[in-house]
Amino acid sequence: MSINLKTLLAVACMALLPATIQAKTESFGIGDKTFLLNGKPFLVKAAEIHYPRIPRPYWEHRIKMCKALGMNTICLYVFWNIHEQKEGEFDFTGNNDLRAFIRLAQKNGMYVILRPGPYVCAEWDMGGLPWWLLKKHDIRLRKQDPYFMERLEIFEQKVGEQVADLTIEKGGPVIMVQVENEYGAYDADKDYIRAVRDILRKSGFDKVQLFQCDWASTFKANALDDLLWTMNFGTGANIENEFAPLKAARPDSPLMCSEFWSGWFDKWGSAHETRDAKAMVEGLETMIQNNISFSLYMTHGGTSWTHWAGANSPGIWPDVTSYDYDAPINEAGQTTPKYFELRNMMAKYHNGKLPAIPAAYPTIAINNFKFTEVAPLFNNLPKPVKSTSVKSYEDLDMGWGCMLYRTTIKQDVGVESVLRVTEAHDYAQVFLNGKYIGTINRMHQETTLVMPAMKKGDVLDIYIDAFGRINFGSGIKDRKGISEKVELYYENGDIVNIELKNWEHYLLPDDYESQTETDYVPLTAANTGVRGNYRGTFTVNKPGDTFIDMSTWGKGQVYVNGHAIGRFWSIGPQQTLYMPGCWLKKGVNEIIVTDVLGPHEVKMEGKKEPVLDVLRLEAPATHRTEGQSLDLSNEKAVSEGTLTEGNGWKEVKFDQPADGRFVCIEALNSHWDREYACIAEFYLLDEDGKRLSRETWKVVYADDEDVKTGNKSADKIFDLQESTYWSTNSGVPFPHTIVLDLGQSKRISGFQILPRVEQGAPEAIKDYRMYVKRTQFKGI
Ligand code: GLA
Repeated sequence: MSINLKTLLAVACMALLPATIQAKTESFGIGDKTFLLNGKPFLVKAAEIHYPRIPRPYWEHRIKMCKALGMNTICLYVFWNIHEQKEGEFDFTGNNDLRAFIRLAQKNGMYVILRPGPYVCAEWDMGGLPWWLLKKHDIRLRKQDPYFMERLEIFEQKVGEQVADLTIEKGGPVIMVQVENEYGAYDADKDYIRAVRDILRKSGFDKVQLFQCDWASTFKANALDDLLWTMNFGTGANIENEFAPLKAARPDSPLMCSEFWSGWFDKWGSAHETRDAKAMVEGLETMIQNNISFSLYMTHGGTSWTHWAGANSPGIWPDVTSYDYDAPINEAGQTTPKYFELRNMMAKYHNGKLPAIPAAYPTIAINNFKFTEVAPLFNNLPKPVKSTSVKSYEDLDMGWGCMLYRTTIKQDVGVESVLRVTEAHDYAQVFLNGKYIGTINRMHQETTLVMPAMKKGDVLDIYIDAFGRINFGSGIKDRKGISEKVELYYENGDIVNIELKNWEHYLLPDDYESQTETDYVPLTAANTGVRGNYRGTFTVNKPGDTFIDMSTWGKGQVYVNGHAIGRFWSIGPQQTLYMPGCWLKKGVNEIIVTDVLGPHEVKMEGKKEPVLDVLRLEAPATHRTEGQSLDLSNEKAVSEGTLTEGNGWKEVKFDQPADGRFVCIEALNSHWDREYACIAEFYLLDEDGKRLSRETWKVVYADDEDVKTGNKSADKIFDLQESTYWSTNSGVPFPHTIVLDLGQSKRISGFQILPRVEQGAPEAIKDYRMYVKRTQFKGI
């Protein structure tokens, strides 16, 4: 055997490398219909977990929990906005130490799939994009906007500096890196995807396998020839159908479900989401048996601390703090029945042998909370920023929190008037001379409020609390505060319409320091219940995880020992906040609650179990008010017929285009005589057969909606999520109807409809009628 100089040099270089990198380098790539690890067929069984959603001291525990499920890979997003909270200032330390997290996965024998965005969705503020991008008013997000691309390139380079040397061919555990995220749900723009791919390559991910993920229905729009394509879908999906388009396009490709949704996320004001454990396990087993790789999204969801929870769209559906996700490992890192069901199945493919389950962290009850001080909002307004017109949070360089907008009424308004705020993002409470008048809630698409008569010199306050920024769809450019203007309308003989000007902006950022800088006074019977900050203490003998019961509080944020542990809102469904024991101290701990509504009782306890499923809405979120009954007796359908059986999109062209603003879908019966009417997604087509934008759509009527067994309201037909759907209730007979208000009149040439046809749930409308009108239907 002859050793040449090159080999000698290579050996010498190896000796200089740090011990961890000296570990054997491996290879990962694509073979014929399979992945290859070191040249051998390999099935990726990935567990998705997000390091910023888990306290760092618990990282390894969660990784081991995934390993004990038989997973061989950790799949993770990199959230741009948590690493670059201020433009140009990067933080990869502490809980943001991406490198340490990946190393920990490697130490535990796990491979890693890295998903560095730039956009990630993930029910995370603005889908992971930094809010400060919105300071540039005309920015085009996720597009080849020069500023967006410049910032994204800088960020990906930073990610590369941190972890590009941890790709598999360089001795690390990273087997694949994702380019963008479900871009098909946003737009069709291959040039942009190419540009992101090139930036990732330039950032050091030059040899590792790159891939892009999308839905079966959308992936082709942006699919690049040189990238691997993977599909996302959830529990209950018909797996064969999900892969059919990919198999047709690329018969030799390995198959992978890059997000198999174990459960689903919760939104404030909507029923708690769960998915069946058996159906999840069956789906995963089917994939294993068919050599289909997967990543279980989420295997452990964790928590969207502070203000990191985003909001779903169209419309705005703010996500709750808990990201429990009904995942096999619950929010607190504990096993669930789903965990054991999954582990039992996975064990069959590991000769019955899986690593032991690590012990759970102890949970404790805390019953000694004492609140002694309050800093009332109206006594603690900081120095205002003045300007003629209203400014958004972004204009005033504030990312999250509240803003109080104040102006003085310039003339007597002797009659009731309408205050119109376009738009209040997101939850606006209106006060006149300090007296509460009412609320304008963006969640309910409200923009106006009736004001009492006013006098010159009266002080008008609009106190805004921002939800998380929209993380999905075209609404991600979601500026907070008042986005445009405030007007007053009234009739005084003439119609008067004035834009209110000369505003004082009181900035109330959501950070711990700001809450400690306010003036606290003793809590008394007189000031209990006001809007503001409540400060107290509790003692702990032996720290453990606990769930803080917020059910007597209004809406706001909680800070414990300086950690913002998340938003609460009495409407639920989340009623307790997860408080990890690793952030508690033996002895006295501090708690501050910022309550923008004011508590109805100042009390608190730490529970041993979470409460994630109690809704306390004033009225159920359905689209039919008492006494409403749609009358179609004099209407003529613009289209009627029979939809084809089975899965996938159906398209219907009208004989002639119809003009109108109000559209009624009438379902007469279901294929296979099923008792439910269900629709997963619905589009109307314009004159050229293209999908009309659904941004301005509202459901104005639905004869029946199942909001008891799940969140199956009629607006789910245009929420861009194929996995959520409208369903009627058991036992309510056909026909079923939905009426949509498109916001303005449109020429409509047909429609596309996606039924809910999953395994075990073949709910597909058969005969239908469609009505289009310029004016509202009778009976609504
Ligand atoms: C998509 C996104 C994820 C997440 C899930 C829903 O698949 O890619 O980031 O938002 O939906 O939980």
